[in-house]
Amino acid sequence: MSQRVAILISGGGSNMVRLLEDMAQPGHAAHPVLVLANDPDAGGLAKAAAQGVATKVIDHRDFKGDRAGFEAAIDKELRDSDVDIVCLAGFMRILGAEFVKGWDGRMLNIHPSLLPKYKGLNTHQRALDAGDTEHGCSVHLVTPELDDGPILGQAKVAIKQGDTAQDLAARVLKQEHQLYPKVLREFAASLKAE
Ligand code: GAR
Repeated sequence: MSQRVAILISGGGSNMVRLLEDMAQPGHAAHPVLVLANDPDAGGLAKAAAQGVATKVIDHRDFKGDRAGFEAAIDKELRDSDVDIVCLAGFMRILGAEFVKGWDGRMLNIHPSLLPKYKGLNTHQRALDAGDTEHGCSVHLVTPELDDGPILGQAKVAIKQGDTAQDLAARVLKQEHQLYPKVLREFAASLKAE
């Protein structure tokens, strides 16, 4: 059976688009069933709808700081859609331990750094400030600790003299668009084979 994938986004969703494009290829072990955003203005929602994928908004602001309530609403949506794999793709809310444990071994995230370096935000500027010569992105399984789970794949870019954080972000994003589909493809195939 093809694995049922939900993608959680907060913004433009360029990684989401790449995942959808790759899942549309013949022989993929997964297919998208839902794109869920925590922000009604997330640009990725229209892109998902244009691909014929169901979309849903659960706006964290409606929960007025009740994170457990927000996460329970997301969880219900995922369960109702009978989701097998959750992909976080630029989803910018921190998820609590209870929610994360409910998707243990089935939730992936892409993070714009070579983890374990630079967990959290502003990864590109932090790599520059540290004088690093290389940077990149990681796809990992999500565990309760932020940006900490087992790494499933990484891609590197060289940091060049004079690079700004914006230059780096653009170069890393290109790599993200290659890495995330590749890792999801392998991950879905491995679950299917179980
Ligand atoms: C990507 O660079 C992703 O790695 C990052 O947000 C961007 C989303 O872009 N995620 C994080 O920083 C998660 N902590 P996209 O919406 O175009 O895919």
